[in-house]
Formats: sequence, structure tokens, C-alpha cells
Amino acid sequence: MAIESSCDETSAAVLCGDKVLSNIIATQKVHEKYGGVVPELASRAHQVNILPVVHQALEEAAVSVSQLNAVAVTQGPGLMGSLLVGVSFAKSLSLSLNIPLIAVHHMKAHVLAHFIRKSDDQPVPEFPFLCLTVSGGHTQIVRVNHPASMEVMAETIDDAAGEAFDKAAKVLGLPYPGGPLIDRHASLGDHTKYQFPIPKLDGLKYSFSGLKTSLLYFLRDRKAENPDFIQEELNHICASYQYTIVSYLLKNFSRAIEETGIHQICLAGGVSANSLLRKSFHELAEKKGCRAFIPDFQFCTDNAAMIGIAAYYQYLDGDFADLHWAPKAHWKI
Ligand code: KG4
Ligand code: ZN
Repeated sequence: MAIESSCDETSAAVLCGDKVLSNIIATQKVHEKYGGVVPELASRAHQVNILPVVHQALEEAAVSVSQLNAVAVTQGPGLMGSLLVGVSFAKSLSLSLNIPLIAVHHMKAHVLAHFIRKSDDQPVPEFPFLCLTVSGGHTQIVRVNHPASMEVMAETIDDAAGEAFDKAAKVLGLPYPGGPLIDRHASLGDHTKYQFPIPKLDGLKYSFSGLKTSLLYFLRDRKAENPDFIQEELNHICASYQYTIVSYLLKNFSRAIEETGIHQICLAGGVSANSLLRKSFHELAEKKGCRAFIPDFQFCTDNAAMIGIAAYYQYLDGDFADLHWAPKAHWKI
């Protein structure tokens, strides 16, 4: 049984080895009107959702509690109040059933989501591979040598790519999470209509806060000329902004491919649901002679199946946790 509660999705999954038998995700709608996740509301919603989600995961997997032989949970990084709900639940389950507990790193789990198999002949990446992990809280280029050995080659120095989508959506008057909505509007717009600057940083580092600010000033100036500018141009603004984020993500990732000579490339995290990013990632793979992997949509955004697959490798390594530890809001790979 795997449990994920690091942000605003309460999720439980049942795995048998590396096979996912169920993966239930309760998305918290309560944050929509606030333009972002409200931590206190998130932890309260996890408390309401956790039992029904766990029951449903068992029911769908046709597995009884007594058949469970380990329980895994996200230890961090994430929102402390949210993590505490999943961690307390998992510790209690482990104690009451007298089964091992496995503490999982959320970002490593996003990367290992590529090993969730729906069929025995499904291809999976070979080691070493490069993974571009793009979520609401992180943007990283990770070199993966082995399930237990990952190195962060680059990350963002400020906002994550998902935040760049969500904060832009907020100033455009779209509800949280804005990524999927920007994606939808962008599909109807012309990405060449407006240009947004990308920062020039040393190495492979990312920065997204300037991009968000440039959108803010751009909208302020245009709205001063035409108060209906956003409504009239929404699709083109979304297309141009999305194009800038995707090009920037892939520009540095392309350099990481050149620098490492690694030709197995993977995309992970919630932003990998973005349609332009998925398409452009495959195009980049073709151009560079790489083999590209992108998990199924349900395994891209936060879900417990990815916690389960990460825990499966830890189980094989005998990497179990006792009950004396706390969740970690911040935790480097
Ligand atoms: O991995 P995830 O579910 O949660 C975190 O660990 O942060 O990622 C959520 C992020 C949000 O910022 C959301 O706006 C973004 O993924 N996202 C998208 C799309 N679907 C989800 N961003 C752009 N386009 C999408 N289609
Ligand atoms: Zn995540």
C-alpha cells in the first residue's frame, strides 16, 4: 500500500511487485478560487480524504488489509501539514499490521514513475538516463544511475515551471491549477504573436520568476491601452507564454544531453502533462537520436502509484524505516 499526501492530492495505490493494481487520486477542489494551494485547507482535506481513498484503493485492487505486506508513504519534500496526514496514517497502519514501513522521496518517485508497467512488454528506460522533472514545486534535470542513485545536474533558482504556469494563470484570471487551462487556451492561439524574455544564467540552471514578472508588466501596459486586452488575446498570450517556458526547459535539457552523451531521456512531474512539452520532447529526442519516455498522464501528476514503485525498489534493497522520524518539507535528492 502506497500513500501520497505531499501537496493537494490525496492518493493511495496498491501494488503487487512492480504492477499497479489500483491508483486512486482525490484532487482537492477547495484551492481553485484562491489561485494556489492553501496549506491549512490542504491538510484538512487530506484528513477527510485519506480513509475513503485507502478503502477505495483496496477495493479496486481486490486486496484485503490483512494481505498487505508493506506500507509506503511520501516523507517529503512537500507541505508539512499535508505530509503529516499521510505519514501519521502510514505509521499507524504499519504499527497495527506489524508490517514494514518505507519512507519515500517524492521527487525520486516522480522519476521512477517511468518503471510503472501496464504490461510485461512495456519498454522502460535503461540506466543511466536523464530526467527532466517539472512540477508545481520543482524543476530539475536529474541524472539517474540506478533507482537508488540520482544526481541533480540543474534546478531552478526560484520558481518552478509549474508555478510559472499557475502564477500566469492567476494574473490572466484563470483558476488554480492554471497549467492545464493555459495548455488548452494555447492550443487555440498563435505562439509567435508575443515574445517573452528568458534569463541567461550560467550552466544549466533555470529561473522562472523574471518570466512571470515580464508577463505581469506586459499585461499592465497592454491593459492600459485596451481594458479588454486579456479577453481578446487570451489564446495568443497563453500560446506565446507556454512556448517560452517549453523552449527554455528544452534548451537547457538539450545541453545536458550533449554534455553527458546520455541518450535515454525521460520527462516527469505534473508539467509533463503539457501537450506542447510532450510533443516537443519527442521532437528533441528525434533530433538528438535519443529514446524518449513519458509516463501515462495519471502517473505524471502527483499519485501514489509512483510512491509505490519507488518503494518497491527500496523494499528490494531492504531500505525500511522505523517509526521515529518526521516528514521533511525540504529534502534534496
Ligand atoms: O507534480 P504535480 O502534480 O505536483 C507537484 O508535485 O507540484 O504538478 C502540478 C503542476 C501544477 O503547477 C500544474 O499547473 C502543472 O503541474 N500542470 C500543467 C499541466 N497539467 C498540470 N502545466 C502545464 N500544462 C499542463 N497540461
Ligand atoms: Zn509532485
